[in-house]
Amino acid sequence: MMRVLRGAMASFSGDPFLQAQNDVFHYLPDALIVMENGHIMQVGNAAELLPALPAGIVVETCPDSLILPGFVDCHVHYPQTGMMAAFGEQLIDWLNHYTFVEEQAFVDADHARQVARVFLDEQMRHGVTTGCVFGTVHPQSVEALFAEAQQRGLRLAAGKVCMDRNAPGVLLDTPQRAYDESRVLIERWHGQGRLEYAITPRFAPTSSTAQLEWLGALAAEHPDVLIQSHVSENLGEIAWVESLFPGCRDYADVYARHGLLRPRAVYGHGIHLSEPELEVFHAAGASLAHCPTSNFFLGSGCFDVKRGKESVRPVTVGLATDIGAGTSFSMLQTMAAAYQAAQFNGHALTAPQAYYLATRGSAEALGLAGKVGSIAPGMEADLVVLDLKATPLLAWRMQYARGIEDAMFILMMMGDDRAVSATWVAGEPAWRRPAAA
Ligand code: GUN
Ligand code: ZN
Repeated sequence: MMRVLRGAMASFSGDPFLQAQNDVFHYLPDALIVMENGHIMQVGNAAELLPALPAGIVVETCPDSLILPGFVDCHVHYPQTGMMAAFGEQLIDWLNHYTFVEEQAFVDADHARQVARVFLDEQMRHGVTTGCVFGTVHPQSVEALFAEAQQRGLRLAAGKVCMDRNAPGVLLDTPQRAYDESRVLIERWHGQGRLEYAITPRFAPTSSTAQLEWLGALAAEHPDVLIQSHVSENLGEIAWVESLFPGCRDYADVYARHGLLRPRAVYGHGIHLSEPELEVFHAAGASLAHCPTSNFFLGSGCFDVKRGKESVRPVTVGLATDIGAGTSFSMLQTMAAAYQAAQFNGHALTAPQAYYLATRGSAEALGLAGKVGSIAPGMEADLVVLDLKATPLLAWRMQYARGIEDAMFILMMMGDDRAVSATWVAGEPAWRRPAAA
């Protein structure tokens, strides 16, 4: 069925960190977006496109709104939804005391399905239309998420966590089991509708060299699947990796020498990566997921996105919540935290840079920029409609906005799920904010 939205719209066709903003940032104050069969058919100025619409087509108008590509959260742990805001620890203690306890419950497929529903409902309420998602070590955790995402028609990537050491015994697999179970999931789900598989070694400390070798072999056999993991998040973690892999030059080298750095390989954090490590990421075409609310929550540090994007060796960077270390499903709140992280590094992240990271940047990190993350003809019709006047304070503050970039900045700093008035998936409304009582 043809669906048509009318309203202010913003989207990116390239990277505003590397290209002139005017060339890649597209803002239409009165746009028409024509969708059919799950795709965007036409985008342009309403005045130009309206006369050519077939007779009788209903146009849904979005006043005081900004229509964006659906947000893409390129690094998130759905099984950690029930342990957000776990008090008092930094990374390794937080993993041992909270995460590795919470994740044990996903041996139960019914529990996994229930949490998957809550997780995807929250993503819809926050305008997140694509995630790259960690399961637990249990294949059934990923089965549950994929089944639920398939029912909703979502584009989503996910993978079974692989770990064979340094975690409770009930959460460990082996090199061969990690390989076998991941391979079965790839064969069952990768490329089914809009679903994609991500080979998922949790991070270097929880995989033996043998396991990394098996997963590197699996990745080589499946050059089109994603890879996801963590790198250089916490100083204690980095020292531990050095002691566990004495033969490796640095943290990035652990992954590089096992064939786990390549396009569509997305690594969370990368806060403390050295210059040579960033060069390795660049050369491999691997990506980083900037997870600022998580980094603040765990006291991990402030990722320097400007440094990551250094034009002599730019690394692809996406934005991510990293729930449950992340503190919000909201990509607006995550953009606000990214702004604050940049400030601590002495830079001001512009609104267009922040919105790029949350949409096209994350899509590029996942190798999906030809499908989602932008509003353009031929793209899949995943959209979020943001209400510029969602709260009394936002509405009042917006009257002083000095143009669209200022309005977008105010929205990302002061907005959250209350500003999401509708989320569209594959050209259909998937969620609408209830009318005020
Ligand atoms: N490093 C290894 N596992 C995790 C995890 O679950 N969350 C975060 N933030 N870092 C990790
Ligand atoms: Zn993570």
